Amino acid sequence: MADTAYELGEDTPELPVNFRKLTPREKRRVLSELLDIEPTELHSSNPAEDLIDLADVMVESAVGVMPVPLGIASGIRIDGEVYNVPMAVEEPSVIAAATYAGRLVSRGDGGFHTTTTGQVMTAQIAIDDAAPGSKERILQAERELHRDLTSLLDPMTRRGGGYRGIDVSEFEESGLVVVYLHVDTRDAMGANIINTAAETLRGPLERISGGTVLMAILTNAAPRRRARACFSIPVAGLGRGTFDGATMARRVVRANQFADTDPLRAVTHNKGIMNGITSVALATGNDTRAIEAAAHAHAVRDGAYRALTEYRIDDERLVGSLELPLAMGTVGGAVGFHPVSSFALKVLFLSPDIEVSADRLSRITVSIGLAQNLAALLALVGEGIQKGHMRQHSRRLAWKAGARDEEIQELAQRVWSHGTFNIETAQELLHELRRER
Ligand code: MEV
Repeated sequence: MADTAYELGEDTPELPVNFRKLTPREKRRVLSELLDIEPTELHSSNPAEDLIDLADVMVESAVGVMPVPLGIASGIRIDGEVYNVPMAVEEPSVIAAATYAGRLVSRGDGGFHTTTTGQVMTAQIAIDDAAPGSKERILQAERELHRDLTSLLDPMTRRGGGYRGIDVSEFEESGLVVVYLHVDTRDAMGANIINTAAETLRGPLERISGGTVLMAILTNAAPRRRARACFSIPVAGLGRGTFDGATMARRVVRANQFADTDPLRAVTHNKGIMNGITSVALATGNDTRAIEAAAHAHAVRDGAYRALTEYRIDDERLVGSLELPLAMGTVGGAVGFHPVSSFALKVLFLSPDIEVSADRLSRITVSIGLAQNLAALLALVGEGIQKGHMRQHSRRLAWKAGARDEEIQELAQRVWSHGTFNIETAQELLHELRRER
């Protein structure tokens, strides 16, 4: 397309009206002309030219990509297998923390033990103005409704998933009748298939109820797609600073009680868990927002917002567990389509003996969430969280001050020893370091 395909007013601060219709490269050119963008900023949002085309087919109005560091929490034993878990996250200490606690749990013949409730997604079909007795009539028509979905769900059924039943609720306050459709979507997160199935039932449900369907959409709460991880480790190995292992274990249990009884603490506690879970979800191309919404809904399921984890001391062992809904896929959507996601899945399922499945991915992810929480609690009730954070922060400061390659580590160490964490000090220390060379 010619350069004249878009017009920029002399001093317009706005994007051209036809911005949406430009190719991604043209959009980027507009942005670089319009905004005060450093060449490196433009470059780092587009590390590889073909990613811009990928971005363009993934979202509307793509202008680049946002590279988030991708790392690996390695050596985590889950259900007897050792995994290297890809995590995409911008926060410095997350991967280090998951690796630390993951390995602590994985020592010897220990590790995480997991269970899942299966990969069942649920959709809601809300019916307005349903005639009295609709609930009973819908339940009586269940076989017919199931039949209406047979051809759509056939491929899923052949893979061992498919239709798993319906429930119906009547809401007195709104007067709505809501049908819950359950489908096992196997290795797909399943949003597309369950939404299509729910929409297929619009007509039949209107006929049976005499009402009008208000909407048909999955619930991201995914109540029948939960994953659980637990571990049991000797308290003896938990000693830190002046606290012996038994004291540390007691303090971890108390920290969990704090989060379980004070919602303000619970939000931060659960945010720490989601540091791990969201990082794995992002690395593998899963829907992080859906997973987070479900986790927080689960945390408030009994009316009070609580910790997602449980801890207790049992026979001189610290026993921890985490359960939450985890609607994740290993196929469909961005999963496997985005090159980073397929790379991440290859890293995760390196061993040919381990079957790549959504079920396994959710078991691994919940374990990382639990490892993340254990690491946070050990730091919080031990030496405090800031020490580790500031160590990581010194590396960022070193980079910001201009250090590159092997200078980064050396400057970070000097910033850390100096104990003053600002850019001016980092720059002075960098000059000093270069003079000495
Ligand atoms: C920081 O991203 C996460 C923590 O605040 C979690 C917690 O407080 O449990 C350390």
